[in-house]
Amino acid sequence: MKKLYKCLLILLGFLLIEEMARGQEENAALWGKPSQSSTYAGSEPEFALDGLLNSWTHTNQQTNPWWRVDLLKVYRVNRVTITNRPSNADRINGAVIRIGNFLDIYSNSICGVISTLAASATATFSCGGMVGRYMVVHIPGNQKILSLVEAGVYGTLAGNRAVGGATIQSSTSADWFAEKAIDGNRGLQQLYTGCSSTLNETNPWWRLDLRDVYRVSEVVITNRKDCCAERINGAEIRIGNSLENNGTNNPICAVIPDIPAGESNNYSCYRLEGRYVIIHIPGDWKILTLCEVEVFGYLAENLAVAGTAIQSSTSSDWFAEKAIDRGLQQLYTGCSSTLNETNPWWRLDLHHIYRVSKVVVTNRKDCCAEQINGTEIRIGNSLENNGTNNSICAVIPAIPAGESYSYSCDGMEGRYVNLIIPGDMKTLTLCEVKVYGEGPFLKRSFIKLMFHSSKDLTDSTMRENVLKQLGSALADRGFTDLTLSWSQTPKQEVMQNVKAGKSRCDTRK
Ligand SMILES: *[C@@H]1O[C@H](CO)[C@@H](O)[C@H](O)[C@H]1NC(C)=O
Ligand SMILES: *[C@@H]1O[C@H](CO)[C@@H](O)[C@H](O)[C@H]1NC(C)=O
Ligand SMILES: *[C@@H]1O[C@H](CO)[C@@H](O)[C@H](O)[C@H]1NC(C)=O
Ligand SMILES: *[C@@H]1O[C@H](CO)[C@@H](O)[C@H](O)[C@H]1NC(C)=O
Ligand SMILES: *[C@@H]1O[C@H](CO)[C@@H](O)[C@H](O)[C@H]1NC(C)=O
Ligand SMILES: *[C@@H]1O[C@H](CO)[C@@H](O)[C@H](O)[C@H]1NC(C)=O
Ligand SMILES: *[C@@H]1O[C@H](CO)[C@@H](O)[C@H](O)[C@H]1NC(C)=O
Repeated sequence: MKKLYKCLLILLGFLLIEEMARGQEENAALWGKPSQSSTYAGSEPEFALDGLLNSWTHTNQQTNPWWRVDLLKVYRVNRVTITNRPSNADRINGAVIRIGNFLDIYSNSICGVISTLAASATATFSCGGMVGRYMVVHIPGNQKILSLVEAGVYGTLAGNRAVGGATIQSSTSADWFAEKAIDGNRGLQQLYTGCSSTLNETNPWWRLDLRDVYRVSEVVITNRKDCCAERINGAEIRIGNSLENNGTNNPICAVIPDIPAGESNNYSCYRLEGRYVIIHIPGDWKILTLCEVEVFGYLAENLAVAGTAIQSSTSSDWFAEKAIDRGLQQLYTGCSSTLNETNPWWRLDLHHIYRVSKVVVTNRKDCCAEQINGTEIRIGNSLENNGTNNSICAVIPAIPAGESYSYSCDGMEGRYVNLIIPGDMKTLTLCEVKVYGEGPFLKRSFIKLMFHSSKDLTDSTMRENVLKQLGSALADRGFTDLTLSWSQTPKQEVMQNVKAGKSRCDTRK
């Protein structure tokens, strides 16, 4: 059994590597917009995000100085890193790190407090998945100076697609504007300012334009806390592409029976497709008040937006993600680009296996359109040779500047879509890559395991235990859709086979 554990550890080692390769966590600060309470002698707020250790931000000496980065979207923040100055290092003492959705510093929650930090040192503060659009560092007190060499905010997109959408409602009560329902603020801390509301009328409605067609998995609605929680009862959540009858003809995701005051309920929409999310209360003398509407899902059709992108190298801020940014509501505009190198590649991980029908590639517009000539599109499940071992869907002869060309892949199966330019002194620049297809499909794979165990694996109870342990070890790593079973009854001192989704464990002596 001791040997089995050794084997499990090795297996987990592989899985860990794979999880990191998925690259879901990112330094969101790099995309963000920094600002600070005041700027001393040209020490701009951007200096905390430039990756340089010889430049730093600097406020004037003032009361409660702060530095803030607007991540532009709502993130689940795992950790914040702060790098201190080489000189006057004690100025950072007492700085507070906050995460949240509020421009008002003190409304955000505290992730950590820097008591002291050595000169030029980097400290990491674990935020445990705190959700927010802003990360603020501030020093409470008078005659303080806040100066930061670097700040990093690591997390994953919280995935609320409502942020950045356009809102409208049938009528507006005082300043309870429609957009307050998507301000990233569930409205509970500022009771009377964070919510939208219509007047008392017949069939009041509120509508969100997601600006693109999404497959909506869930909608989360937060009800008002101060009074009249029952007014939401009977509201319909509708999703679709029609504006007929103000959108109230679209398919229903759910009818809200009730939501307790100040609470957020989650409605599953089973991937209903639509550009519009409508909340509507049918009937006379109704008032529709919404403190927050959050929408989760992925852009319909284009599979790329649910994936993650990496590339062989990155030219300045031409990050790999920029080739699939359409799903991020155009906040991050631009293109991806590698450096000028040998065999540059870009890879999209769809996280599951799909049958890809077509790939659409948009070329750069500004210059050098011919650089795309000869790019191979490869699809498959192999990461060998950076994806060049996968089968070719198409070789791009050329794409005119700024245009989008479509390549048919005829249902090729794969988790990875690789774009590669074979040859020396090549640069791979992509302004958009869209992937269309069907799926995801479950993949059944066989892995060989050799157990050195003092227990008798020919005993069926023992075999079940081994599978259970493997299953829970894998579940801990997030592989929830996995089924494990023996495809062959193990024999002693013989290689065993296990059916599983991932990885290999090989403990040959
Ligand atoms: C759409 O909503 C507006 C504002 O409530 C209302 O005046 C109009 O009659 C509605 N149109 C339809 C077709 O329901
Ligand atoms: C909504 O509920 C489902 C099922 O309980 C859960 O998996 C999901 O994470 C929830 N979504 C949000 C946005 O809270
Ligand atoms: C709307 O106004 C009518 C008439 O004044 C009133 O009876 C009704 O309670 C009001 N509805 C709400 C939801 O406040
Ligand atoms: C790229 O392809 C275009 C269109 O076929 C062609 O005009 C151009 O010469 C090619 N450039 C290079 C560098 O191969
Ligand atoms: C994979 O890509 C990286 C980055 O370009 C490169 O260093 C490495 O040599 C490549 N590996 C293979 C096997 O081509
Ligand atoms: C991957 O490609 C390389 C180079 O073309 C080849 O030598 C190798 O055998 C391939 N591996 C597999 C598993 O096909
Ligand atoms: C890459 O660098 C070489 C050498 O400087 C240059 O000749 C070539 O044009 C560059 N290629 C691209 C695609 O920029």
